[in-house]
Amino acid sequence: MQNGPIGVFDSGYGGLTVLKELVQKLPEYDYVYLGDNARAPYGTRSFEAIYEYTLQCVKKLFELGCPLVILACNTASAKALRTIQQKDLPLLQPQNRVLGIIRPTAEVVGQYTQSNHIGVVGTTGTITSESYVLEIGKLFPQLTVTQEACPMWVPLVENNEMNNEGARYFVKQHVNQLLQKDPLIDTLLLGCTHYPLLMPLIEQALPPHVKVLSQGTIVANSLADYLQRHPEMQTRLTQKGERTFLTTDTNEQFNKQGTLFWGAPIVSQQVHVHE
Ligand code: DGL
Repeated sequence: MQNGPIGVFDSGYGGLTVLKELVQKLPEYDYVYLGDNARAPYGTRSFEAIYEYTLQCVKKLFELGCPLVILACNTASAKALRTIQQKDLPLLQPQNRVLGIIRPTAEVVGQYTQSNHIGVVGTTGTITSESYVLEIGKLFPQLTVTQEACPMWVPLVENNEMNNEGARYFVKQHVNQLLQKDPLIDTLLLGCTHYPLLMPLIEQALPPHVKVLSQGTIVANSLADYLQRHPEMQTRLTQKGERTFLTTDTNEQFNKQGTLFWGAPIVSQQVHVHE
């Protein structure tokens, strides 16, 4: 069994918002980030495409020696995680693990609301999967969960168009639609790892009493807890504090754009994932 870094996967740049918090909470570990920027966004793609692309990226991270891969993407967690865990993992690398980010988020969401009304925003894929409604419903049956798909938000972030009037318009439009569906919402869960980049606009569009939850710290706390409970995995993770950034698109673009999200210079490499 190989020891190696923690693999963090997203369709594009959004997972960097999760990686940032992982590194903050657990800085000693090595991380390999893989963004499938060449094929992002995933959010409006079919189940088959999301599953196939995610599996290819997980295989790539396994090839690079990662014993543990985190799908830092809600769309992939909603559409591909279960099949990969149940069908592919036992054949590929039974000792390795692939974790998603929907379950850990659902586990804590109930702590924040007073009105018992939660809003969830996400990609079309995540929202139509109903994953949040189902997971939160199992853990907190008293909560009313209202969803809104925001298909324009990821393209705005991927194209670095998140600080202009167009972005403000689309953010406001979806926030208003959500609040029309349920005016009692007092907690809004950003169920897409790209959305923290739109945080200032989202907060401006909401009434001040609505709390906005993004997933980075939630996922980081959950991983710390997982590693404590799973020493057999924890001891397989290398700890030299290294960070490696990989993208399926050109690395110049990732360096430029990724740096904005990461908050520090990024030197990435382009990789090819097997079709
Ligand atoms: N960041 C991904 C998520 O959390 C979605 C981005 C996409 O549509 O590719 O859902």
